[in-house]
Amino acid sequence: MEEARIPRHVAVIMDGNGRWAKKRLLPRSMGHRAGMNRMIGLSEHAFDRGVRYVTLFALSTENLARPKEELDGIFRLFRDYFSSHAETCRKKGIALRVIGDLSLLPPDVKETVERGLERAKEGERGVLTLAIAYGSRSDIVAAANRAVREGKEVSEEDFSRLLSTGEVPPPDLVIRTGNEKRLSNFLLFESAYAELCFSEKNFPDFGDEDLDAALEDYASRERRFGKI
Ligand code: FPP
Repeated sequence: MEEARIPRHVAVIMDGNGRWAKKRLLPRSMGHRAGMNRMIGLSEHAFDRGVRYVTLFALSTENLARPKEELDGIFRLFRDYFSSHAETCRKKGIALRVIGDLSLLPPDVKETVERGLERAKEGERGVLTLAIAYGSRSDIVAAANRAVREGKEVSEEDFSRLLSTGEVPPPDLVIRTGNEKRLSNFLLFESAYAELCFSEKNFPDFGDEDLDAALEDYASRERRFGKI
Protein backbone atom coordinates (compact mmCIF):
# COMPACT_ATOMS: atom_id res chain seq x y z
CA MET A 1 0.00 0.00 0.00
CA GLU A 2 1.26 3.45 -0.92
CA GLU A 3 2.56 5.30 2.15
CA ALA A 4 0.61 8.45 1.19
CA ARG A 5 -2.69 6.55 1.38
CA ILE A 6 -2.18 5.36 4.91
CA PRO A 7 -4.51 7.33 7.18
CA ARG A 8 -2.58 9.47 9.62
CA HIS A 9 -5.23 9.04 12.33
CA VAL A 10 -7.49 6.01 12.83
CA ALA A 11 -10.22 6.03 15.48
CA VAL A 12 -12.09 2.90 16.56
CA ILE A 13 -15.42 2.42 18.34
CA MET A 14 -14.79 -0.95 19.99
CA ASP A 15 -18.30 -2.37 20.06
CA GLY A 16 -19.54 -5.94 20.52
CA ASN A 17 -17.53 -7.19 23.50
CA GLY A 18 -20.71 -8.18 25.34
CA ARG A 19 -22.09 -10.09 22.34
CA TRP A 20 -18.73 -11.80 21.82
CA ALA A 21 -18.93 -13.11 25.42
CA LYS A 22 -22.62 -14.03 25.18
CA LYS A 23 -21.99 -16.16 22.08
CA ARG A 24 -19.45 -18.13 24.12
CA LEU A 25 -21.64 -18.32 27.23
CA LEU A 26 -19.05 -16.25 29.08
CA PRO A 27 -19.64 -13.33 31.46
CA ARG A 28 -19.56 -9.88 29.81
CA SER A 29 -16.38 -9.06 31.75
CA MET A 30 -14.57 -11.76 29.74
CA GLY A 31 -15.71 -10.01 26.57
CA HIS A 32 -14.18 -6.75 27.77
CA ARG A 33 -10.93 -8.51 28.69
CA ALA A 34 -10.81 -10.09 25.23
CA GLY A 35 -11.52 -6.61 23.86
CA MET A 36 -8.63 -5.13 25.81
CA ASN A 37 -6.23 -7.78 24.50
CA ARG A 38 -7.41 -7.15 20.94
CA MET A 39 -7.10 -3.40 21.51
CA ILE A 40 -3.43 -3.84 22.43
CA GLY A 41 -2.70 -5.99 19.35
CA LEU A 42 -4.68 -3.82 16.98
CA SER A 43 -3.12 -0.52 18.00
CA GLU A 44 0.34 -2.07 17.70
CA HIS A 45 -0.53 -3.29 14.20
CA ALA A 46 -1.85 0.15 13.20
CA PHE A 47 1.40 1.83 14.28
CA ASP A 48 3.36 -0.86 12.40
CA ARG A 49 1.39 0.04 9.27
CA GLY A 50 2.45 3.69 9.61
CA VAL A 51 -0.64 5.15 11.28
CA ARG A 52 0.59 7.93 13.59
CA TYR A 53 -2.47 8.52 15.77
CA VAL A 54 -4.84 5.88 17.11
CA THR A 55 -7.87 6.85 19.20
CA LEU A 56 -10.00 4.18 20.86
CA PHE A 57 -13.42 4.58 22.47
CA ALA A 58 -13.10 2.55 25.66
CA LEU A 59 -15.93 3.94 27.81
CA SER A 60 -18.57 6.58 27.15
CA THR A 61 -20.16 8.75 29.82
CA GLU A 62 -23.40 6.90 29.01
CA ASN A 63 -21.67 3.53 29.64
CA LEU A 64 -21.15 4.67 33.26
CA ALA A 65 -24.81 3.83 33.88
CA ARG A 66 -24.13 0.10 33.29
CA PRO A 67 -24.53 -2.36 36.18
CA LYS A 68 -21.90 -2.05 38.91
CA GLU A 69 -20.58 -5.56 38.30
CA GLU A 70 -19.81 -4.82 34.65
CA LEU A 71 -18.23 -1.45 35.46
CA ASP A 72 -16.08 -3.02 38.19
CA GLY A 73 -14.76 -5.46 35.56
CA ILE A 74 -13.94 -2.61 33.17
CA PHE A 75 -12.27 -0.59 35.95
CA ARG A 76 -10.15 -3.67 36.77
CA LEU A 77 -9.00 -3.66 33.14
CA PHE A 78 -8.11 0.04 33.35
CA ARG A 79 -6.05 -0.65 36.49
CA ASP A 80 -4.26 -3.59 34.81
CA TYR A 81 -3.62 -1.71 31.60
CA PHE A 82 -2.34 1.54 33.08
CA SER A 83 -0.20 -0.13 35.73
CA SER A 84 1.55 -2.47 33.27
CA HIS A 85 0.95 -1.56 29.65
CA ALA A 86 1.81 2.14 29.94
CA GLU A 87 5.45 1.05 30.39
CA THR A 88 5.22 -1.09 27.23
CA CYS A 89 3.92 1.95 25.32
CA ARG A 90 6.86 4.02 26.56
CA LYS A 91 9.35 1.33 25.49
CA LYS A 92 7.73 1.11 22.06
CA GLY A 93 7.80 4.87 21.54
CA ILE A 94 4.06 5.36 21.82
CA ALA A 95 2.80 8.37 23.76
CA LEU A 96 -0.32 7.58 25.76
CA ARG A 97 -3.18 10.07 26.20
CA VAL A 98 -6.65 9.95 27.70
CA ILE A 99 -9.65 12.09 26.79
CA GLY A 100 -12.75 12.15 28.97
CA ASP A 101 -13.75 13.07 32.48
CA LEU A 102 -11.56 10.98 34.77
CA SER A 103 -13.22 12.51 37.83
CA LEU A 104 -16.19 10.22 37.05
CA LEU A 105 -14.03 7.15 37.80
CA PRO A 106 -13.39 5.70 41.27
CA PRO A 107 -10.48 7.71 42.78
CA ASP A 108 -8.01 4.78 42.82
CA VAL A 109 -8.70 4.03 39.13
CA LYS A 110 -8.23 7.70 38.27
CA GLU A 111 -4.89 7.71 40.12
CA THR A 112 -3.68 4.54 38.36
CA VAL A 113 -4.62 6.01 34.98
CA GLU A 114 -2.82 9.28 35.78
CA ARG A 115 0.30 7.47 36.99
CA GLY A 116 0.33 5.41 33.77
CA LEU A 117 -0.01 8.54 31.66
CA GLU A 118 2.96 10.10 33.47
CA ARG A 119 5.09 7.12 32.43
CA ALA A 120 4.29 7.32 28.71
CA LYS A 121 4.15 11.06 28.05
CA GLU A 122 6.38 11.16 25.00
CA GLY A 123 6.78 8.87 22.01
CA GLU A 124 8.36 9.36 18.60
CA ARG A 125 6.40 6.57 16.91
CA GLY A 126 2.84 7.69 17.54
CA VAL A 127 0.12 8.77 19.94
CA LEU A 128 -2.44 6.36 21.40
CA THR A 129 -5.48 8.13 22.86
CA LEU A 130 -8.00 6.25 24.97
CA ALA A 131 -11.43 7.82 25.37
CA ILE A 132 -12.57 7.02 28.91
CA ALA A 133 -15.72 8.46 30.50
CA TYR A 134 -15.83 10.48 27.27
CA GLY A 135 -18.73 12.13 25.48
CA SER A 136 -18.23 14.32 22.45
CA ARG A 137 -21.14 16.68 23.07
CA SER A 138 -19.94 17.59 26.55
CA ASP A 139 -16.41 18.00 25.16
CA ILE A 140 -17.77 20.45 22.56
CA VAL A 141 -19.74 22.35 25.20
CA ALA A 142 -16.65 22.54 27.44
CA ALA A 143 -14.65 23.92 24.50
CA ALA A 144 -17.39 26.48 23.77
CA ASN A 145 -17.34 27.57 27.41
CA ARG A 146 -13.55 27.94 27.26
CA ALA A 147 -13.94 30.17 24.21
CA VAL A 148 -16.58 32.24 26.00
CA ARG A 149 -14.32 32.62 29.05
CA GLU A 150 -11.49 33.80 26.78
CA GLY A 151 -13.94 36.39 25.52
CA LYS A 152 -13.12 36.35 21.81
CA GLU A 153 -14.60 34.80 18.69
CA VAL A 154 -12.81 31.70 17.49
CA SER A 155 -12.19 30.17 14.07
CA GLU A 156 -12.89 26.47 13.39
CA GLU A 157 -9.18 25.84 13.82
CA ASP A 158 -9.00 27.74 17.14
CA PHE A 159 -12.07 25.86 18.33
CA SER A 160 -10.68 22.46 17.43
CA ARG A 161 -7.67 23.26 19.60
CA LEU A 162 -9.97 23.90 22.57
CA LEU A 163 -11.35 20.35 22.35
CA SER A 164 -9.75 17.60 24.44
CA THR A 165 -8.37 16.17 21.18
CA GLY A 166 -6.75 19.54 20.43
CA GLU A 167 -3.22 18.26 20.02
CA VAL A 168 -4.00 15.52 17.47
CA PRO A 169 -5.16 15.96 13.87
CA PRO A 170 -8.77 14.98 13.06
CA PRO A 171 -9.39 11.28 12.34
CA ASP A 172 -9.08 10.25 8.69
CA LEU A 173 -10.77 6.92 9.26
CA VAL A 174 -13.34 5.95 11.90
CA ILE A 175 -14.04 2.24 12.28
CA ARG A 176 -16.95 0.84 14.25
CA THR A 177 -17.19 -2.85 14.98
CA GLY A 178 -20.17 -4.83 16.31
CA ASN A 179 -22.49 -4.31 13.33
CA GLU A 180 -23.84 -0.93 14.48
CA LYS A 181 -23.76 2.10 12.21
CA ARG A 182 -23.67 5.17 14.39
CA LEU A 183 -21.14 7.45 16.04
CA SER A 184 -22.60 7.26 19.58
CA ASN A 185 -21.27 10.63 20.76
CA PHE A 186 -17.67 9.94 19.63
CA LEU A 187 -15.48 12.68 18.07
CA LEU A 188 -18.47 14.44 16.50
CA PHE A 189 -16.71 17.70 15.61
CA GLU A 190 -13.43 16.01 14.72
CA SER A 191 -14.98 13.39 12.39
CA ALA A 192 -16.65 15.90 10.07
CA TYR A 193 -14.67 14.63 7.05
CA ALA A 194 -13.56 11.21 8.31
CA GLU A 195 -14.12 8.18 6.12
CA LEU A 196 -16.36 5.71 7.94
CA CYS A 197 -15.97 1.96 8.00
CA PHE A 198 -18.35 -0.47 9.69
CA SER A 199 -17.56 -4.07 10.52
CA GLU A 200 -20.05 -6.79 11.36
CA LYS A 201 -17.46 -8.43 13.59
CA ASN A 202 -17.54 -8.04 17.34
CA PHE A 203 -14.47 -6.16 18.51
CA PRO A 204 -12.53 -9.13 19.98
CA ASP A 205 -12.85 -10.84 16.56
CA PHE A 206 -11.68 -7.78 14.60
CA GLY A 207 -8.26 -9.05 13.54
CA ASP A 208 -5.18 -7.36 12.13
CA GLU A 209 -6.33 -8.58 8.70
CA ASP A 210 -9.63 -6.74 9.20
CA LEU A 211 -7.74 -3.54 9.94
CA ASP A 212 -5.67 -4.14 6.79
CA ALA A 213 -8.90 -4.51 4.80
CA ALA A 214 -10.22 -1.23 6.26
CA LEU A 215 -6.93 0.49 5.37
CA GLU A 216 -7.16 -0.89 1.80
CA ASP A 217 -10.72 0.36 1.55
CA TYR A 218 -9.65 3.78 2.85
CA ALA A 219 -6.82 3.91 0.29
CA SER A 220 -9.32 3.37 -2.52
CA ARG A 221 -11.63 6.22 -1.48
CA GLU A 222 -11.48 9.65 -3.02
CA ARG A 223 -11.57 12.30 -0.31
CA ARG A 224 -12.98 15.53 -1.66
CA PHE A 225 -13.66 17.49 1.53
CA GLY A 226 -16.76 18.94 -0.10
CA LYS A 227 -14.95 20.01 -3.27
CA ILE A 228 -15.43 18.44 -6.74
C1 FPP B 1 -18.64 -1.83 23.97
O1 FPP B 1 -19.08 -3.16 23.79
C2 FPP B 1 -17.42 -1.84 24.77
C3 FPP B 1 -17.28 -1.27 25.97
C4 FPP B 1 -18.36 -0.53 26.66
C5 FPP B 1 -16.03 -1.39 26.74
C6 FPP B 1 -14.81 -1.48 25.87
C7 FPP B 1 -13.65 -1.69 26.73
C8 FPP B 1 -12.52 -2.31 26.33
C9 FPP B 1 -12.29 -2.82 24.96
C10 FPP B 1 -11.44 -2.47 27.30
C11 FPP B 1 -10.74 -1.18 27.42
C12 FPP B 1 -9.58 -1.28 28.24
C13 FPP B 1 -8.70 -0.28 28.40
C14 FPP B 1 -7.55 -0.50 29.24
C15 FPP B 1 -8.85 1.05 27.79
P1 FPP B 1 -20.44 -3.61 24.48
O2 FPP B 1 -20.14 -4.10 25.84
O3 FPP B 1 -21.42 -2.49 24.43
O4 FPP B 1 -20.85 -4.78 23.54
P2 FPP B 1 -22.32 -5.26 23.24
O5 FPP B 1 -22.98 -4.19 22.43
O6 FPP B 1 -22.10 -6.52 22.47
O7 FPP B 1 -23.00 -5.51 24.55
